[in-house]
Amino acid sequence: MVRTLSVIKADIGGFVGHSGMHPDVMDVLRKNMDDAINKSLLIDGQVHACGDDAFLIMSHDNGEDNKDVHKFAWDSFIDGTEVAKKLHLYGAGQDLLVDAFSGNIKGAGPGSAELEYEERPSEPVIIFMGDKTSAGSFNLPFYKMFADPFNTAGLVISESLHQGFAFEVHDVKEHKKIILNSPEEIYDLLVFIGSPARYAVKRVVSRTSNSIACVSSTDKLSEIAGRYVGKDDPTSIVRCQGDFPAVGEVLEAFTTAWTVEGFMRGSHYGPWMPVSLDEANPSRFDGPPRVVALGFQLADGKLIGPRDMFDDPSFDNARAEANDISDYLRKHGPFEPHRLPLDEMEYTTMPTVADKLNKRWSEI
Ligand code: F6R
Ligand code: MG
Ligand code: MG
Repeated sequence: MVRTLSVIKADIGGFVGHSGMHPDVMDVLRKNMDDAINKSLLIDGQVHACGDDAFLIMSHDNGEDNKDVHKFAWDSFIDGTEVAKKLHLYGAGQDLLVDAFSGNIKGAGPGSAELEYEERPSEPVIIFMGDKTSAGSFNLPFYKMFADPFNTAGLVISESLHQGFAFEVHDVKEHKKIILNSPEEIYDLLVFIGSPARYAVKRVVSRTSNSIACVSSTDKLSEIAGRYVGKDDPTSIVRCQGDFPAVGEVLEAFTTAWTVEGFMRGSHYGPWMPVSLDEANPSRFDGPPRVVALGFQLADGKLIGPRDMFDDPSFDNARAEANDISDYLRKHGPFEPHRLPLDEMEYTTMPTVADKLNKRWSEI
């Protein structure tokens, strides 16, 4: 039978500043989650945090875009926002962009990744939670996992991976999508996904079994709101083993601290640091950006886990690399390539300064 795993996430208030979540907010979200399980809306569910974002992980039989599941997530974020407001937490309710919920979380502010799947006899999945970065940040790791034989040995030596994967790429500005096949179209694929501010991998599908291998949130808050309201810190769900890359191949994609958009005021590039749950509280220059990997085995829709997959010394080098890259990039201060290029800075002081000085420019 087809089951659904939904991850819906939002920043509803930071503690302290934008660095983390307050335990009282997590408590109310967890209480609501238990209620939804008891009322049988959900088979199972958990709440976790990465930085100042709360992630509702929900297993159910209601399919993607289910009104009741989305409404539950929205109402839960509203309850969490109440607590955040009482404690004067920072940016309480910042990702809840609409006044009244209209049946689907998409376009309302929170990010979502939803996977419909037939549960295999053993179904290992990894849920990635990102903070201080944006929608397309998974492009490079997804490429490594599903298209790069130097990362994923199975693409070369496993019968079930050898046919490759199909990438569904979304143009987050024009709201269009295209499907490109790996390996034969990888050069075309890279033209687009190499520019993650505009093109984001939404889904990857196995060309052996036609089943979905991974799905990510591609929401872009600044596009939704028409002005900057915070970062669209992303999430993704990746299925592992069998027709998909092994757990170790999926995680191998994070052994380099890739440079991503994010960091202070969403306006700087920084290294994406793989961390355990305990280390997911970005505080240096509101960063560096973080990614947590929660591993689960699904058992009749129950979430067995999580295992905190980056809580492993084999990621120490990637963390050290992230610190070195942060030191180096920070030295650039307000200069590119630490600061984002101008066209990505439209929500900052730039238009005001440009307007103010408009008349003082003269021909040369
Ligand atoms: C937000 C973030 C932060 C803020 C920065 C300024 O997720 O990562 O870097 O952009 O702390 O915040 P404000 O403008 O709210 O003072
Ligand atoms: Mg925040
Ligand atoms: Mg955040």
